Amino acid sequence: MINELEKDIDRVLFSEEDLKAMVKKVAAEINEDYAGKKPVLVVLLKGSVMFAADLMRSLIIDCEIDFMKVSSYSGTQSTGVVSIVNDLKTDISGRHVIIIEDIVDTGLTLYRLKNLLEQRGPESLRICTLLDKPSGRKAEVYADYIGGVVGNEFIVGNGLDYNEKYRNLPYIGVMRNS
Ligand code: IMP
Repeated sequence: MINELEKDIDRVLFSEEDLKAMVKKVAAEINEDYAGKKPVLVVLLKGSVMFAADLMRSLIIDCEIDFMKVSSYSGTQSTGVVSIVNDLKTDISGRHVIIIEDIVDTGLTLYRLKNLLEQRGPESLRICTLLDKPSGRKAEVYADYIGGVVGNEFIVGNGLDYNEKYRNLPYIGVMRNS
């Protein structure tokens, strides 16, 4: 059968093997830093779902997972306005929290979200992202755990979308004409 998505992909940036290696690296760091601490992984919907599922399976520490949906993007542009679409069910006060993100671009989403979650009194709050796009940064925010770095390109796959499409590509690719 013909892959309906691949015609729009210019090139593969991170293969399935590359992604596995990134998850393994980040998981090893978290396993070491959080041994005996029972963190809550706060997964940002929808783009981080694949990464979070892979990461969860590679963690050997006691941990929990919860989901949050914030909105800041329309098409390929960050609107800079972040609103909570779905909030956590977990009370994170006194908990070790790790925000799980797919990609940090302008950093505006995480900057605002971090401030918001800090007001809920977590014991600690860190950021874990599959990918970092430092060239796009507009806010002072840094991830504590980073799988890989990308340049100034719009990428899709492994959870990342363009207008809700391409999330199911098993690798990360650069869009044609991006
Ligand atoms: P930020 O506030 O600009 O850092 O927005 C980060 C969010 O924008 C990510 O969680 C993604 O959902 C989305 N995003 C940023 N860059 C890309 C990209 O290259 N492809 C797909 N989504 C992206």
